[in-house]
Amino acid sequence: MEEIVRKGSLLVLLVVAVLSLTACGGGGGTQQPAQQPTPPAAKTEPPPAPTPPPAPTEEEVKIARGKEVATNMGCVACHSADGTAGVGPTWQGVFGHEVTVVLPDGSETTLVADEAYLRESILNAGAKIVKGYEASMPNYEGQISEEDLEALIAYIKSLKGEH
Ligand code: HEC
Repeated sequence: MEEIVRKGSLLVLLVVAVLSLTACGGGGGTQQPAQQPTPPAAKTEPPPAPTPPPAPTEEEVKIARGKEVATNMGCVACHSADGTAGVGPTWQGVFGHEVTVVLPDGSETTLVADEAYLRESILNAGAKIVKGYEASMPNYEGQISEEDLEALIAYIKSLKGEH
């Protein structure tokens, strides 16, 4: 009988001890700190400094800017970046690709799309109409800064793939 009482009070002590431990360590209600053994101080090494992500290159910044400009100026309403033809030809894979265009006098010619062609297509879309498409693209001459134009060209150039 005495034994049982002693065991009983021990149990009570234990419960009180555990409760006070969790109460002190918990703070926000988590019981973690009371349960995790503290690692020996000698083994604690400072965490390795995180390697910062590589800074984007000038070209990457330009491309990102070009994508923004294309969205802001509404180009994406007519041009896709994923190979889907829309009102206008897709931009995917156009750079370096052969394009057959119709000139104002009605004659046709085939050229390889380079930077100069992209620039002219944006500033003066009517100069060369991609065969099979309507001359529905607005002229952006005077509507766009040189910086934005270069960014757009960099973005279009970056869209590689099937044209
Ligand atoms: C209203 C629809 C429309 C909008 C908006 C538009 N385009 Fe076009 N774009 C076309 C069409 C249609 C063609 C094909 C006919 C032509 O050559 O003009 C074309 C052709 C082009 C070409 C030549 C592509 C090729 O495959 O040879 C480029 C580059 C181009 N657009 C860039 C742009 C940029 C950059 C913008 C935004 C600043 C823009 N377009 C806005 C309709 C549009």
